[in-house]
Amino acid sequence: MPHMNLMSYFRNSAGVLMFFCLILYVVWTSTGDYERSSVATVTINESTFVCKENFIDTRTFLVKSPITHGTDTNETGSDNFMSTTIYFITPTYPRREQFAEIVRLGQTLMNVPNLHWIVADDTDSCNPQLDEFLNRFGMPYTHISSPMPDFYRSQKPMPRGVANRRAAINWIRQNGKKPGVMYFGDDDNTFDLRLFNEIRSTKGVSMFPVGLIGLYSVSAPIVRHGKVIGFFDSWVSQRLWPVDMAGFAVSLEYLEKSPNSTMPYKAGFEEDGFLRSIGLRMHEIEPKAKNCTEILVWHTQTKKEKPALIHIDDRNVESADSSLGPLLKTLESLGVSHTNPSSGVKAQIAKNSKAKDLTNRTV
Ligand code: UGA
Ligand code: MN
Repeated sequence: MPHMNLMSYFRNSAGVLMFFCLILYVVWTSTGDYERSSVATVTINESTFVCKENFIDTRTFLVKSPITHGTDTNETGSDNFMSTTIYFITPTYPRREQFAEIVRLGQTLMNVPNLHWIVADDTDSCNPQLDEFLNRFGMPYTHISSPMPDFYRSQKPMPRGVANRRAAINWIRQNGKKPGVMYFGDDDNTFDLRLFNEIRSTKGVSMFPVGLIGLYSVSAPIVRHGKVIGFFDSWVSQRLWPVDMAGFAVSLEYLEKSPNSTMPYKAGFEEDGFLRSIGLRMHEIEPKAKNCTEILVWHTQTKKEKPALIHIDDRNVESADSSLGPLLKTLESLGVSHTNPSSGVKAQIAKNSKAKDLTNRTV
């Protein structure tokens, strides 16, 4: 090999080596927290806290109906079927709409027997209001605080709900009871109660359509002769698994087979990355929702607004003389609105068709 070629050969191989080192570093740093954290019971990693765990089901109203308990036609048979716990993972984050979403979703989930709700809040503190709400629904739950690392928060687009889902997966690995099924249910989606009868019988990995996704208004596996043969999703982008987060469920037995599997911090590729990491194969997929012909989960989205800033005389806020003070304090604690004595939308009281200013006087 001539001298120059040898030099460039070395330069190239050094470049190749550096490239591989970089890849290794990126892979290591993106899985590092997860691996280092798997020993602790309460603190999962440096910035993840289990705020509250409640394993007691206080619901007394659950009636045995085909909607909530499925029918005897379930492959596994009724008794066996109901002994499987559904671990429902909900990433959530503080914003004006958060508690409205939690109420709506909680009131759906409270109708589902043998369900453990894992609510993982994208924030660095344990919000006591969240516990109060979760307690009221009556089903077992785990409240986790798992903020997105600052590095990812500054990315565009940012990987939403990844830190929290990773924390929840980790919690399941340590605390999940078998038989169990894991499912990712975002706080703003709409869930048909019939979905839970479908996912409860997941043996490995099940899949089903999600309504209101992308340019087709749906993302769905395509099934022929009872097997998934492809996907109907308007955004393929080289994804092996072009599915939505709400479009699949995984049994804890299956999850256990790949102890290092996790979700990547890669916006748009979270589902694909996770399903690749558990080593899924096409022939293993169990189609649900009448061979993927029905929609049992909808990707609804809530319009987001900033919390209101209300310009109001502080005496109205501090006093419990009328309902207004306590009401405004409640809204403040839920992140819905703030008050200020000198700026914001002017507060007024309506009485006899007239509006009277409350910016510098009391009710
Ligand atoms: C879509 C998919 O349905 C999500 O499953 C996927 O995570 C997301 O895109 C993505 O790839 O980023 P979309 O409705 O666009 O979801 O996103 P959001 O509903 O705003 O967020 C998804 C979940 O992450 C929600 O449960 C939300 O509460 C949570 N989230 C969002 C956070 O925990 N932190 C945030 O800063 C934003
Ligand atoms: Mn959403």
